[in-house]
Amino acid sequence: MLATTGLSTAAATRRRLVAAPGQTQIVPEKFAGPTPVWAFNGTAPGPVLRVRAGGRLAADVENGLDQATSVHWHGIRIDNAMDGVPGLTQEAIAPGDQFAYEFVAPDPGTYWYHSHNRSWEQNARGLHGALIVDEPAPWKGADRDLVLVLDDWRLVADGSIEDGFGSIMEWAHGGRIGNTPTVNGRLGSQIAVRPNERIRVRLINAANARIMEIAFADLPSRLLALDGMPTAIETLSGPVQLAPAQRADLLVDFAGADGDTTPLTLQTRDGPFEMATFVLDGEPMRSEYPDPFGLPMSGPALVTDLSDAFRTDLVMEGGAMGSMQGATHQGRWMDMRELVSKSRVWSFNGVAGDMDEPLATVERGRPIVFTLRNATRWPHAMHVHGHHFRVVSRDGKPVANPVLRDTDLMMPDETIEITFMADNPGKWLLHCHMLEHAAAGMMTWFEVT
Ligand code: C2O
Ligand code: CU
Repeated sequence: MLATTGLSTAAATRRRLVAAPGQTQIVPEKFAGPTPVWAFNGTAPGPVLRVRAGGRLAADVENGLDQATSVHWHGIRIDNAMDGVPGLTQEAIAPGDQFAYEFVAPDPGTYWYHSHNRSWEQNARGLHGALIVDEPAPWKGADRDLVLVLDDWRLVADGSIEDGFGSIMEWAHGGRIGNTPTVNGRLGSQIAVRPNERIRVRLINAANARIMEIAFADLPSRLLALDGMPTAIETLSGPVQLAPAQRADLLVDFAGADGDTTPLTLQTRDGPFEMATFVLDGEPMRSEYPDPFGLPMSGPALVTDLSDAFRTDLVMEGGAMGSMQGATHQGRWMDMRELVSKSRVWSFNGVAGDMDEPLATVERGRPIVFTLRNATRWPHAMHVHGHHFRVVSRDGKPVANPVLRDTDLMMPDETIEITFMADNPGKWLLHCHMLEHAAAGMMTWFEVT
């Protein structure tokens, strides 16, 4: 039990996660058989893990794949040694080996876990799942919660996953976009709800690269949380946007009568696509809804004094239609042609994914301001490990009441300033969560000492 020294002595929730090839029925049986996937405990997405805020999760991960893997607990302000980043916080778990993760989950909310080794392939093949951190005292604002892991598989006609991982064309464009959007691993799922039930819907975008716009027809819906962290409760007037890795908790009133159906839709270029159907079933829960209320606020406080902040810039370049001439890789400058031969097409501050130097080294307890500039023609989902941040300005304009996020979607040519307190010691990644972009150069790290 050496690894637990210094952690709270309360018993941990213990789970075993086996990463191994499996099969899951993604497409309805009438169209195709089960899809061969890589799965945690045989299902894709993997099991929903739950722990109470402040409690400890012990996850024994066994690698039954024929390649190395690791698990990252996305969004958790975690002990650095448990962050799951091969080469930075641990050795990758070799085939046949295991790794015992154990950590405290400090903040209630909707999180997820996923492979962090060759994640552009392992995540797309199914190695991810939801991690729910429950409020210390049960929140009474909804009848129940519903976890919806959204994904975007690319399948061929017999239902198997299309190969072609590692295509440099895709890596230089928007990443691997699929053709089969699923909810909890099913195309066209039917989800039973009670008429007039009020549900906390936890949406997780687990796709490699697809930015999703999700809508609940005209059901009254309110925003409760983003990336796990509570927001002020707010009525939604349109679809919710979720970049890869982002989460949103919504409070949805399934108003209607027994037998009604209502869709969960994904906006696509060809119009709304019905990702799942809610089927209202049974006696109504109530005739009238009580007034809705939000989640208790939690998470790190706003950093107000930035006078002594550590500041640095991150310029994002590269990709198709960009102006990048070349970048440093493996310690020397390479032109685009040579970079492409190394599967590198993006850069941060002129460096294409070399990890020997950190972007920043900051003493613990000092505020950080990173200025991120997207000098590419593509949107990017910028993710910071181990911390939540606030976007305090966009294109020079201050953001009113900035919310906590762990992943922000940046548009082409956009510049943002993010702030957070460097309060979690260790080595932390900062990367694009379009997983092909990360693999092709959009990755760096910083150290809190
Ligand atoms: Cu969810 Cu470094 O990732
Ligand atoms: Cu990107």
